[in-house]
Amino acid sequence: MISPAPKMPEAIPNELSERVAIVTGAGRGMGRAVAMRLAESGASVVVNDLEPSAAAETAESVISAGGIAMAVAGDISDSTFVDRLVGSAAEEYGGINILVNAAGILRRTAVIDMPEAEWDLVMNVNLKGTFLTSRAVLKSMRRSGWGRIVNFSSTAGKTTSTLGGAHYTASKHAVLGLTRHMAMEEASHSITVNSICPGLIDTEMVRQEIDTDRINRYIEGFPIHRLGEPSEAAELVAFLASDRAAYITGQGFDISGGDLMV
Ligand SMILES: NC(=O)c1ccc[n+]([C@@H]2O[C@H](COP(=O)([O-])OP(=O)(O)OC[C@H]3O[C@@H](n4cnc5c(N)ncnc54)[C@H](O)[C@@H]3O)[C@@H](O)[C@H]2O)c1
Repeated sequence: MISPAPKMPEAIPNELSERVAIVTGAGRGMGRAVAMRLAESGASVVVNDLEPSAAAETAESVISAGGIAMAVAGDISDSTFVDRLVGSAAEEYGGINILVNAAGILRRTAVIDMPEAEWDLVMNVNLKGTFLTSRAVLKSMRRSGWGRIVNFSSTAGKTTSTLGGAHYTASKHAVLGLTRHMAMEEASHSITVNSICPGLIDTEMVRQEIDTDRINRYIEGFPIHRLGEPSEAAELVAFLASDRAAYITGQGFDISGGDLMV
């Protein structure tokens, strides 16, 4: 039996209205849901994605829903682009307060067959990209004495990946290490750094990898018998990005329907 997905609660109005957020990988999937959700709470959102049309579409959707957004397309594993991303965000809206690193890629090749270039690609996007964007926003966050960084790890960052290869698993473990270390470095500046660790969430990343029959076999085994919704991950991110989560840092929160219980 498949459990019904819940209706998400309304956002607290204007909770983030003084905040500027950069969301990477926001052209689709969970990044897109996060951009929409932060904007609903009043944040001005800089929508990044590698795909220009996807970034533009999300920014337009935010604006159509009454929010504030701009699209800045490009590759977050390229430090020159990342400096431009943060520079244009600061120019348009002022200092950056919230960074959500949702951009990620999944490849599934086994180590024995893995080309070096594929290892580098996955590590560069999932890990180095998270480092580059974080480094680029920290000065601005320190100046304002407030900051929130939320990184997308995965339950693969605590065990092994269901769909991805060892590079994916290693990159998501490393995101948790990076999260903890940055949290320690930045805590005295009122900047918190946390990760979320999704299990199987209903996005194109998952749908491209496995067919519905296999998805159904997985969800049979989950204590909550369904995939997660992108809006549910976005809800957790919105909480971590708010003042309500001021005493939470260096953590990795599983959102997996109980698939992982540690
Ligand atoms: N969907 C899941 O079940 C699941 C589970 C665990 C973790 N995650 C992680 O959550 C994050 C979001 O996943 P999703 O399912 O929404 O993925 P998705 O593939 O639907 O969306 C990812 C987005 O990131 C963008 N992107 C990829 N490389 C980029 C780059 N170099 N620069 C900028 N943007 C780039 C893509 O164009 C895409 O729009 C990823 O980090 C993923 O690894 C997903």
